[in-house]
Amino acid sequence: MSGPSEEDFPVVNSYTEWDPLEEVIVGSLAGGVFPTWQESMGPTLPHDSVRIFKERGGTPLPAEHAAAAEEELDGFAAVLQERGITVVRPEPVDHARTFGTPQWQSAGNSSGMPRDLLIVVGDTIVETPMSWRCRKHEVDAFRGLIKSYFRRGGGWLAAPQPELKDALFDGDFDPATETGWAITDFEPVFDAADFMRFGDDLVVQRSHVTNEFGIEWMRRALGSRFRVHEVPVNDPHAMHIDATMVPLAPGKLLVNPDRYVPNPLFRDWEILEAPKPALGPDWPMYFCSPWLSMNVLSLDEKTVVVERQEQPLLDALTDWGFTCVPVDFRHVYSFGGSFHCATLDVRRRGRGGTYLDGTV
Ligand code: ALA
Repeated sequence: MSGPSEEDFPVVNSYTEWDPLEEVIVGSLAGGVFPTWQESMGPTLPHDSVRIFKERGGTPLPAEHAAAAEEELDGFAAVLQERGITVVRPEPVDHARTFGTPQWQSAGNSSGMPRDLLIVVGDTIVETPMSWRCRKHEVDAFRGLIKSYFRRGGGWLAAPQPELKDALFDGDFDPATETGWAITDFEPVFDAADFMRFGDDLVVQRSHVTNEFGIEWMRRALGSRFRVHEVPVNDPHAMHIDATMVPLAPGKLLVNPDRYVPNPLFRDWEILEAPKPALGPDWPMYFCSPWLSMNVLSLDEKTVVVERQEQPLLDALTDWGFTCVPVDFRHVYSFGGSFHCATLDVRRRGRGGTYLDGTV
C-alpha cells in the first residue's frame, strides 16, 4: 500500500541502475532457438559456440537445460513479486520462424534478455537497432507491453530500422591480434546493454554490436538533458557493458578487474573489483563468459540480487555493506545473461541527477 508520503512516478520511469525498483520485465526463454550464424558474432562468443551456431542455428535450445532455465526465471520473478515489485513477462513467440529482407534470411533467438534490446531512459522506452540479424524481430514479444505502457503515458522511441546488409559486417576485426571491430559504421546499430545509466549521464562502450553511428544516434535522440559518455574498456570481445561495470549505488561501482579501465568520470567513486567467477569450465555457456557472476540486479541502493553459487561475490558485496538476495540462475547463464541481462527495469523511484565527476 502506498503511504500518503510516497510520491507517485510515471508508469515508465528509470534513470539509474540502483533507484528503488517498482516494476520490471523479466525475460522468458520459451520458444528460444540457437542464433542463425553470422560472421560478426565470432569475436563475441565462447569458442565452441561458433561451431554450435553454424550447425544448429534456428533449432530449439536444449530442452532440459532450457526448461531448468525457465524455472529459474519464474523463481526469480516470484522472489521479486514477494518483495512487492510488479513483474511482467513477454508474450510467447516461436523463434524458429524465419524472416528476412531482400538481402538476407534468418530465424530468431529468444525473449530471454530484454536488457539487450530495450533501454529505459527517464520516462521513455527506447527500442534499439540490433546488429545480429536473428534479433531483428526480438522486440515483437515485448510490443504488447510497450504499447500498454504508452497508452498509460509512457514515452516510446524507436531507432531507425537497420538494413543489416553485408556492408555493415565488413568490419576490420583481426582475429590474430584481436583488434578492430566486427561491424562498420554503415548505419546506426547498438544494443541497449552496451549502455549503463547514471541519472542524467549514460556511459556506453563501443563493441562488436554497437558502432559510433549508433552511439551518436542515441546521443542526439536523448536530447540535451542527457549526456552520453563513451568509455574505453579492455575487452577485445566486447558485447554488453554489464559484465564490465555495474553501479550498485551512488558512488559505488562494481568492476571486472580484467576489463575496467580507470576513468576520471569515476574519480570520486569507490570501486570494487569483482572476485573471480565461481563457475567452472564445464558448464555450458553458449553466449557469454563466466563473468556473468557480476551481472547483478539492484533492487535499491542497498539490496542486490546475486546468483546463489557466487559465494566470493556474495561475500565481497556483503562486506561492502550490501544485502544480497541469493537466487539460482546458472541455467539462465548458459543462454546469454544473468539478472541484469534478463530484465528491463521499467519503473524505479528516482528523478535522475548528476552522479559522475566533471560532467556538468
Ligand atoms: N559479453 C559479456 C560477457 O560475456 C556479457 O562477459
